[in-house]
Amino acid sequence: MLHQEMANALNKQINREMYSAYLYLSMSNFSDKSGLKGFANWFMVQYHEETYHAMKLYGYVQRQGEDVVLDTIKAPQAEFKSALDMFTLTLEHEQYITTSINELMDLAISKKDHATQIFLEWYITEQVEEEENDNDIIAQLKLIGDNPHALLMLDRELAGRSTNVPTDFTKGAEQEE
Ligand code: FEO
Repeated sequence: MLHQEMANALNKQINREMYSAYLYLSMSNFSDKSGLKGFANWFMVQYHEETYHAMKLYGYVQRQGEDVVLDTIKAPQAEFKSALDMFTLTLEHEQYITTSINELMDLAISKKDHATQIFLEWYITEQVEEEENDNDIIAQLKLIGDNPHALLMLDRELAGRSTNVPTDFTKGAEQEE
């Protein structure tokens, strides 16, 4: 059982995570057409991770016996100035998501909702990792500057990113990663 305010807030977070997936899919597409296949891979992996974040929330709201409410996902921007521009926007977006997760935790605490507090701890840890990843890549892109050779070296490195998050949610999203 969830407080209605908590259920509404979790449903809003499903939408934010789905928008995150959509934003990174757009960045993957832009990277691909810019010839940066490794960046395209990195953002495609991120798309899967965000879908998983949304589906974990979806499953939790369902298991608590509340209605899942799926809202409109706004269209992400389609064009970006550079790889650095994409990662700067990614970090800004993740900082916004971190704030929204912290607000969910504040609400769970104020409602004395222990189950949701435990559930949200996973997201709080995840956000530290997400921001760290973005900061690391931004630092590398700043060192690279206008050097296309160095950019292609980083592209090759990002091509190696993979994920083991579930992509089949027929049995829910709570399987071990
Ligand atoms: Fe689901 Fe990147 O936060």
